[in-house]
Amino acid sequence: MNAHILDHPLIQHKISLMRDKNTGSKEFRELVSEVATLMCYEATRDLPLAEVEIETPVAVAKTKVISGRKLAFVPILRAGLGMVDGVLNLVPAAKIGHIGMYRDPQTLKPVEYYCKLPVDIAQREVIVIDPMLATGGSAIDALSLLKEKGVAQLKFMCIIAAPEGLNALTEAHPDVDIYCGVLDERLNEHGYIVPGLGDAGDRIFGTK
Ligand code: PRP
Ligand code: URA
Repeated sequence: MNAHILDHPLIQHKISLMRDKNTGSKEFRELVSEVATLMCYEATRDLPLAEVEIETPVAVAKTKVISGRKLAFVPILRAGLGMVDGVLNLVPAAKIGHIGMYRDPQTLKPVEYYCKLPVDIAQREVIVIDPMLATGGSAIDALSLLKEKGVAQLKFMCIIAAPEGLNALTEAHPDVDIYCGVLDERLNEHGYIVPGLGDAGDRIFGTK
């Protein structure tokens, strides 16, 4: 199984506050960003290091810096945008690509409407970010698109996942490590995660 549930107490606490229907957009946005920072810390735990020599005021230290491919984050619009500031807190030099997708309310299938990626995306390690993994359709298509563009090192990070989406994603992309904050019970007949937190995009942007 390439899924990692990041059940750190701070992450769990903040997700509980996000779930509350009385949490307004301002606080919800702040929580999405904070959870994204905490999750990013875990999702970057395996970044390769190289030894370098650095002169301290006291002596020359053999010490380590991050090496290997540079990072890019790719939020799935809209809701993934809410996680961008949070991950950039930890990796400020990362580049950001954007993939726009919405779920057709009838079929629940993702419809792509926008794609703008860094020119050197194929040379980067890419972490796709989206708060919600429901049927898995949006994540599966976003990861397929990035593979078509030549990206070889991919991760996916979401805040809440449904078992249906997690299973579909691991089946479609067994090579991709998945990081999520919590695995919920199920999807309802409208494709919403139960208990979930409602429509993440609407709650971030106050559109409902
Ligand atoms: C939400 C969410 C994911 C998608 C997950 O976006 O941010 O992208 O649904 O559902 P899936 O796993 O069944 O594909 P939505 O389509 O509501 O668009 P929005 O972010 O613009 O509101
Ligand atoms: N997208 C959301 O924003 N919430 C869900 O519960 C499912 C898909």
